[in-house]
Amino acid sequence: MTECIEKVLLSEKELHDKVAELGRRITEDYRGKNLLLVSVLKGSVVFMADLMRAIDLPCEIEFMRTSAYGAGVKTSGVVEIKMDLGREIEGYDVLIVEDILDSGMTLSYLMKILMAKNPNSIRICTLLDKPARRIAKDVFATYAGFEVPDEFVVGYGLDYAERFRNLPYIGVLKREVYEK
Ligand code: IMP
Ligand code: MG
Repeated sequence: MTECIEKVLLSEKELHDKVAELGRRITEDYRGKNLLLVSVLKGSVVFMADLMRAIDLPCEIEFMRTSAYGAGVKTSGVVEIKMDLGREIEGYDVLIVEDILDSGMTLSYLMKILMAKNPNSIRICTLLDKPARRIAKDVFATYAGFEVPDEFVVGYGLDYAERFRNLPYIGVLKREVYEK
């Protein structure tokens, strides 16, 4: 796997420290609230598993699955809900947990759908933010781990064609892997 990686962008240590910091901020901000973490599968699964253990509050978790990519490296622009929430979210302070905010199409669409279900509040926590590629200008992440350059990154949950999710760090994928 590592022969496909151009360079390590974020090491395990950097990821761990950032997740701890985000967990502390969320713990402060959501004290006394009714926190529901909604992880967007599959990319955020590793981040979610670490982040929830860095939050020192009672909270609940849910999962949704979306797809906008197919096997490519660019968004198709059409967001599909592959798996919906299994419950009502009225009365909850929803925090959407996402791996990366890229074009913003996925989160813009999810925010719209979830807001219509009348939660107490709804915010976004994304590990990575790639502002250079934003199309949906109405999306804002209250919690964002790292800003990343306009390169395709994999690892720590993020994939290319379903591979590389199990890398423990985040790396830049070699162009030759997807430009064949
Ligand atoms: P958006 O809708 O364009 O903001 O993209 C959201 C989804 O695209 C993310 O949840 C990722 O699953 C995927 N994605 C965007 N950029 C990358 C990347 O650099 N590497 C891996 N997946 C990405
Ligand atoms: Mg994703």
